Amino acid sequence: MQSTEQASNPVGARIHAAPASFWDALPRPIIGLAPMDGVSDHPFRHIQAAHGRPDVVYTEFTRVEGICRARQITVLENFLYSEIQRPVIAQIYGVDPEAFRQTAILVCQLGFQGVDINMGCPSKNVAGGGAGAGLIQTPGLAQEIVRAVRAGVSAWANGATVRDCPSIHPNIAGEVERRSAKLPPAARLHRAIPVSIKTRIGYDAPVVEEWIPALLETEPAAIALHGRTLSQAYRGRADWTSIARAAELAQGTPTLILGNGDLASRNEGVARVVEYGLDGALIGRAALGNPFVFQTAPLSVPDMRLGPIAMEHGYLFEATFRHAKRYHFPPMRKHLNAYARRMGMPVPQRVKLLQSKSPQEAEAVLRAFADFRP
Ligand SMILES: Cc1cc2nc3c(=O)[nH]c(=O)nc-3n(C[C@H](O)[C@H](O)[C@H](O)COP(=O)(O)O)c2cc1C
Repeated sequence: MQSTEQASNPVGARIHAAPASFWDALPRPIIGLAPMDGVSDHPFRHIQAAHGRPDVVYTEFTRVEGICRARQITVLENFLYSEIQRPVIAQIYGVDPEAFRQTAILVCQLGFQGVDINMGCPSKNVAGGGAGAGLIQTPGLAQEIVRAVRAGVSAWANGATVRDCPSIHPNIAGEVERRSAKLPPAARLHRAIPVSIKTRIGYDAPVVEEWIPALLETEPAAIALHGRTLSQAYRGRADWTSIARAAELAQGTPTLILGNGDLASRNEGVARVVEYGLDGALIGRAALGNPFVFQTAPLSVPDMRLGPIAMEHGYLFEATFRHAKRYHFPPMRKHLNAYARRMGMPVPQRVKLLQSKSPQEAEAVLRAFADFRP
């Protein structure tokens, strides 16, 4: 176990000695980009990394049972990333420990620096089947899953590859090998990567007192804690007092605690980390249409720097997905809407922007707006 020193750095966050993973090498406090299904795809993460520079990014979550059943390589779409996103963590979810073990090997082979287990998703499709936040009710299974992921990571470190995973189809294994061959040499090394968890403070009521110690027993590298229960979904305000209690419980353990919920800026994140004695924080929704959320200088409103970024995002979205069987531009519209709102684009123009079917059409609307402004 590593030793933990209290409050001996300028912002009062905990410092962990003996660097063992990328987490330990990150500046404190750590302010990262939270995973968001349907949002945090490769183009979004790339734009955030290029213009905002979050300290760490997570992919959208991917179901391990899906990885182990699939024949089509589209199942690996969530695991696309670019080098500038590093450190980048793959987030996975599910209920079957053996599928977690095999997927952990795949994640390692794809060159990710960390693997994160989702124990926080409240959706009926996920939690209803016992995965995501459903695991808060089955701490024994949650622990078994962490250990299975670690077993996969150890197997990789000892030379295993996707070809040693009986449930991973040869099509998928072949695609993993193709991507892996393009990685920089350091990312191809058979090295153990840290296992982390993202969760909530409880199922229908906060249970930090029991839930966090159960997770700490498995010694994850980090726990990112969203300050809401499953029942709350996204209602009410995040409970940062429960997050602070989790940090107290983690004192003297090797596990970092990152708070999450309702942060509007990096500065607000840093203030919470200091106030509640955390190691860092994750920002989710506030990053939509706003990579500058990770910078210390606040966004000016309206901020016209977002116009060219929106265009760059649209073209990267097309370049990333245009070869996919079911490619279409509409999933990009939520990002365009977010950029446009922050640029103060009037509703009629925004409506036009949201009807665009290609990055070229989006660019035309964005340029007309930018040119129109003094
Ligand atoms: C659209 C959307 C998708 C999300 N998908 C994920 C996910 O795939 N994995 C995960 O751990 N959390 C997911 N979350 C939760 C966020 O990571 C985060 O915990 C939550 O939004 C609270 O942080 P915020 O207030 O900064 O947005 C999602 C949230 C949103 C809004």
